This record gives sequence, structure tokens and C-alpha cells, in this order.
Amino acid sequence: MMEKHRIAVFGAGYIGLVTGACFAKLGHDVVVRDIQKERVEILQNGGVPIYEAGLAELIAENADRLRFTLDAEEAVRDSDVVYVCVDTPSTLSGDADLSRIWQVIDTLGEARHLAAVVVKSTVPVGTGARVRAAMDQAGLQHVGYASNPEFTAEGQAVRDFLQPDRVVIGADDSRTAKLVAQLHEGVGGPVVEMDVPSAEMVKLAANALLATKISFTNEIATVCEATGADVEQVVHAVGLDHRLGPHYMKAGVGWGGSCFPKDSRALRAMASNSGYSFQMLSSVIEVNDLQPRRAVQRLKDELDGTLRDRTIALLGITFKPGTDDVREAPSTILASRLLAEGAAVRCWDPLARPLATAPWSSATRYATPLEAMTGVDAVVIVTDWPELRDVDWDQAAAVMARPLMFDGRNLLEPQRMGSLGFTYMSVGRRT
Ligand code: UGA
Repeated sequence: MMEKHRIAVFGAGYIGLVTGACFAKLGHDVVVRDIQKERVEILQNGGVPIYEAGLAELIAENADRLRFTLDAEEAVRDSDVVYVCVDTPSTLSGDADLSRIWQVIDTLGEARHLAAVVVKSTVPVGTGARVRAAMDQAGLQHVGYASNPEFTAEGQAVRDFLQPDRVVIGADDSRTAKLVAQLHEGVGGPVVEMDVPSAEMVKLAANALLATKISFTNEIATVCEATGADVEQVVHAVGLDHRLGPHYMKAGVGWGGSCFPKDSRALRAMASNSGYSFQMLSSVIEVNDLQPRRAVQRLKDELDGTLRDRTIALLGITFKPGTDDVREAPSTILASRLLAEGAAVRCWDPLARPLATAPWSSATRYATPLEAMTGVDAVVIVTDWPELRDVDWDQAAAVMARPLMFDGRNLLEPQRMGSLGFTYMSVGRRT
């Protein structure tokens, strides 16, 4: 029979909420704690402050085993496991800021039945050892420590949690490893146990390799443009090699989000701090930084060498479809660059949260793609929202001042767009 645990999850962001809701679904008693009053109040009143497919339903279905609080002491008091899902943002040096993790550790003294502390937040290798030392100093030698990195992708996080490719557990001792494995009973995926530093590294290495695959594909796309090959045909055939696989080889304006940019910088900083220059990762980051800039340059060339007083519509703001998240999205670099070149920027996105900060404070947002495109000199597809396939592109060509498109996600068919009268550019494809 499944053993029920009392879990305190720290952090009600994408990771913490999904973790808490999924553990409640698996039958555990969960309390999720966050420092943001507004966020906790929304959750206490039955709302969900972020969009994640299936999350609102999961929270509602398991409401009797899931509660939310601002009070850290109250959260840890009767819990036997503390899950740390707080954010670890980049500092100026590219290192991860661990201050929120330390704040959690500071509250552990209140716990009466604590058996284990598990860190899910992405952290530099060696963090576990530091947390362990801090716990020992606080008289918590009897409490186990584990690293349990997450591999869920936004937009499909609930599915990824419940049906993962693997559950990685790094623990100092077999009792703690067994406890964390037990929490995952009912999850459909193999459990891989290892030591704490290796578990911490798995997470960074996996994200860096995924980012590398995309940047590599974007480099191939650039060479395709210069030589007359077509990146989609190339990647399709390359990906059929089972040693390489077809995933994360879609060319475009680059990767963004809360993970790849931050984690690749953190891994590079971690290497640099020990005197090693991770040159390949630096190139991966640089290629990604170039992608939106190249898009702006190609638009500029097409618009007779100037973007001044041109109006450009950006379709899609979020870093990928299926999420409301705009963190480190390529759209932000695109909009900033266009504004810097003197263009006026309009935008459309079905889910992005309203943004009051630069560059979006200078961009007008429209309710439909067609409204955003009316009268503009060019349109850029930035996020591959599926609804963009169904836009009436014939009508779009008619309402634009000039039917010029940069398809930054290779979403549409070059021939078709050409036949509708568009001057159509995309990433690494033959037109
Ligand atoms: C990523 C990883 O995929 C997860 O495994 C990991 O757990 C998560 O980071 C994390 O560290 O928390 P996520 O940031 O949600 O998940 O986003 P992805 O779906 O991986 O996409 C990242 C970016 O790469 C997006 O901007 C997307 O448009 C871009 N991308 C993806 C491409 O440009 N080409 C591709 O072929 C695939």
C-alpha cells in the first residue's frame, strides 16, 4: 500500500505548484508556501495565478489534500518532507542566486517530524553539500538531504511530472533515497539514484545539451541559407539517425524561457569559477543571442536599409506556445532592437500576461493577428502559436501596407505565402 506523507512545498511558481498538485494527486497531504501574498490569496480562493495545461483542474480535484499558506513555520511544523521549489535567478556574474533556498533552510528549526529536505530548484553543483553543512550546523543531522531535479517543460509540466522519462534522485544515504522514491509511487517512469552532485549536474547537462541541439540547428540553418540547402529537409533526415533523434532541432529565432538561458549561463559561470572555460557553451549562448538580431537585420535589408518610422507587427510574445511566460523570450530582443532602430512595434499574443515594462510598454497590443497587421510594413512570427496557421493570410496581405513576412518559427509554407503575394523570409529554408 502507498505510504502517505506530509509534504511542505516551498515556492508556488510553475515548478512548486505542479509539484504540489501532482503530489496531492498521488495521495500525499501537501501544503504549498509562497512569500507573495497576492499569489497565495488567489490560490486560497480557488484560483490559479499562472497558466499551465491541466493544472487548474488538478488543483481543484485534489483540494482536500492541498492547501496554500504564507506562513513558513506553519508549513514545516508537521511536515515530514520539505520540497524546495523556489527560484534561483541569475546574478550579475551569471551564478545562481541561492538566497531563497537559504531562507527556507532557516525555517527548518520549527519542524517537529522532519525526515528529509529535497531540493528541486536548479542549483550549481555543490549546493547540496553546502545545504547539508548548514543543516548540520543547525542541529538537523538526523534529517536527510536529497536533490530531485525537475525535467518538466512548461505547457506540459503536469504530464511530464506524472509520466517522466526518468525521476533522478541524488541522496547522501539510502534511507533518504528510498523515502523520495516512495513519494513518487504511482509516477510512470524509471527512478535513477545517484550521489547529490551528479544529480545536480544531470539537470544542468540536460538543459545545456538541449540548448546546444537548437543552437547547432540554427547554425546549420544559417549555412543552409548561404548555400541553397533547406534546413527542414536536412534536419528530417539527420534526425532519423537513432543516435541523434529528431527532437530540439527546429530552427528559429532562438530559445528563451526561464530555464535554458539561466541554466546555460549558470553552468558556464560554474565552470569559469573553477578556472575552466566552457567554450562550446559560450558559442551556444552566442548563437542564440544572434538569432533575433539576424532577423532584424534581414528585415532591415528588405526594407531598403532602414527601419526608421516603419511599423512592424510581432505575432507571439511568449517564449513558446502553450504558456503565458515571457521570461527571456526572443520577442523581447526583437522588440527592443526594432525600437532602437526607430521602428514602431505592434504585437499580438493569445496568452502572454500584460506587460508594463520595456520594451512592451512601447508596443501596442492587439486582440487579433489581423488587427495587429493592419497597415504595417512587415510582420514577424515570433512564437509558433498553432492558431497562426489558421489566419486568413490572403486577407492579411491585403491589409498590410507591404506584405513582408519574417517567419521566425518556420510555421508557414514558403510557396503558399509567395503565391499570396508575400515577400516571405524564414530560417534556413528555401523559398
Ligand atoms: C526546458 C526543458 O525542456 C525541460 O526539460 C526543463 O525541465 C525545463 O527547461 C527547466 O529547466 O525547468 P522549457 O523552458 O519549458 O523546458 O521549454 P522548452 O519547451 O524546452 O523550450 C525552450 C525554448 O527552446 C523555447 O523558446 C522554444 O521555442 C525553443 N525551441 C525548442 C527551439 O527553438 N527549437 C526546438 O527545436 C525546440
